[in-house]
Amino acid sequence: MQIPDIIIAIDGWSSTGKSSFAKLVASSFGFLYLDSGAMYRGVTLFALEKGFIADAAIDEAALRLALPGLELHFERDEEHGTRLFMGERCIEGEIRGMKVSSFVSPISAIAFVRAWVDERLHAFSEGGRVVMDGRDIGTTVFPDAELKIFMTASPEVRAQRRYDELVMKGQKADLEEVRRNLQERDYIDSHRETSPLRQAQDAFVLDNSEMTFHEELVWIQGLIQGKFGILQ
Ligand code: DC
Repeated sequence: MQIPDIIIAIDGWSSTGKSSFAKLVASSFGFLYLDSGAMYRGVTLFALEKGFIADAAIDEAALRLALPGLELHFERDEEHGTRLFMGERCIEGEIRGMKVSSFVSPISAIAFVRAWVDERLHAFSEGGRVVMDGRDIGTTVFPDAELKIFMTASPEVRAQRRYDELVMKGQKADLEEVRRNLQERDYIDSHRETSPLRQAQDAFVLDNSEMTFHEELVWIQGLIQGKFGILQ
């Protein structure tokens, strides 16, 4: 039987566990996982390394000129899961640090950056079953996605999760700074002109402030089985 193309779009606020949840869905149900936020982070790292971000100002003209020369792609293997590469170089570690996190929201608010990323996300998703997480997947990138989830959690829970994640990776972190960064990103992501973060009308809301990973899995199992008849 030909497996139908299915897109599951997972959007929501920063640090609500979208990527962990999307990876869980991907591995449990045999979907390809694509992390759209990683693409914006990759562009941000590129802009930082090229010197297009100085004193918190972004040289958009220079970035626009250089962007066609940027090559980002995902690689997957059993040991590391899905990782983002800039050409030959794995940039997964660098894109998750505070430096990139501080500039990724303004970079992702630039319309030509969004168009560049969207084009690649569409190309990466050709055929098969895909689960993609981000801010505008169910509203802009794949407005016809078969299943849309919108994730939320309390600001305290989100800040603590992000802090724990950074500490676990051995990066320097300050809970107050993490909380401020989340607040800023929430604001920029939901108020920008192009594709602001918002809940799609037909999205199912998942508030996981007080849910375990297992409870999230049971929740999505019900939706996926009911909608597509796919068993784990
Ligand atoms: O999911 P994340 O925290 O890695 O995303 C990093 C930033 O990228 C986030 O602050 C907003 C932006 N982003 C976006 O604008 N649209 C997406 N589809 C995904 C991420």
